Amino acid sequence: VFANLVQAPEDPILGVTVAYNKDPSPVKVNLGVGAYRTEEGKPLVLNVVRQAEQLLVNDRSRVKEYLPITGLADFNKLSSKLIFGSDSPAIRENRVTTVQCLSGTGSLRVGAEFLAKHYHQRVIYIPHPTWGNHPKVFTLAGLSVKTYRYYDPATRGLNFQGLLEDLGSAPSGAIVLLHACAHNPTGVDPTIEQWEQIRQLMRSKALLPFFDSAYQGFASGSLDADAQPVRLFVADGGELLAAQSYAKNMGLYGERVGALSIVCKSADVAAKVESQLKLVIRPMYSNPPIHGASIVATILKDSELYREWTIELKAMADRIISMRHQLFDALRARGTPGDWTHIIKQIGMFTFTGLNTQQVAFMTQEYHIYMTSDGRISMAGLSSRTVPHLADAIHAAVTR
Ligand code: LMR
Repeated sequence: VFANLVQAPEDPILGVTVAYNKDPSPVKVNLGVGAYRTEEGKPLVLNVVRQAEQLLVNDRSRVKEYLPITGLADFNKLSSKLIFGSDSPAIRENRVTTVQCLSGTGSLRVGAEFLAKHYHQRVIYIPHPTWGNHPKVFTLAGLSVKTYRYYDPATRGLNFQGLLEDLGSAPSGAIVLLHACAHNPTGVDPTIEQWEQIRQLMRSKALLPFFDSAYQGFASGSLDADAQPVRLFVADGGELLAAQSYAKNMGLYGERVGALSIVCKSADVAAKVESQLKLVIRPMYSNPPIHGASIVATILKDSELYREWTIELKAMADRIISMRHQLFDALRARGTPGDWTHIIKQIGMFTFTGLNTQQVAFMTQEYHIYMTSDGRISMAGLSSRTVPHLADAIHAAVTR
């Protein structure tokens, strides 16, 4: 009955790993998916995660019962504090509802399904470019996707004027997807002054912010500083949605741990919103898994484990910054034509290199370097050992 199906293409990001795994070359490097690797090129399980898991294993009172539809209550409370701040007025006033979801993607999808069902404006503006999965998540949830200008290829920085113009001409009430920090794929964020201007514009037009926070702690190395843009929008008393992921900042990729928070005008509204979120979640996956959320809650509620987490997180962020400098220096040493300062200016896990599809294909074919075709490289996948190989490949690609 499925004989007439056409073969679907691989995912533009996860498909890079599929291709990488098939390549027998000993020099191959995977800079596609945004997943942290050590200097030795190995995946990293944070020490603090191991400790939390040990505590969980040793606790014989723990059972494997179903979680509530909304997930682990402790996890939800601690997650909203992590993003909104422990002194957040919205949390104090019980105006926030937080539900545990399947990492960032699941949180976005639940939020989008909720909006498609209950919000009067079904159009969402997403930055151009953005994470490849965003348009699919929102479209399949029933929202109509439009883009706003974000990145300027000429400066390899923010097209702030274009952003203001596009949001300025969006219909009143439209939803706007904002990357909370460390924009994926460009590594370009607004300054805090620009965020304030964005906030004023959006509030004046009643545009509804939907933050995607997948990299808290990876932009500046500080969890609080990276949450500043979100907190600006909470401080004005207005509404917003925020999707959080612990994939990157706790290295819990495969555990699929995340949260969706909706900040409402009153505690009464928040309770109604939560009741409707349960109706979205129950037929989708019933209730979320227990293990990853328990790890996160264990770390967030213990001040010593929390402190250790911030140190390990900073170490990951710092290693990525060091890779930026090593790659920049290696290109300079080779006299590679072009201005590569964006490699050290951009932040977070990715560098948006400016390499085009043909150059990327050449680098994959000749140098076994795997990256997304838009020229994005995951700096977290690089090491001192692989930087020279990447620099050779980039040099060859731009000079051929
Ligand atoms: C990425 O952009 O590489 C990550 O967010 C992983 C993913 O699921 O695409």
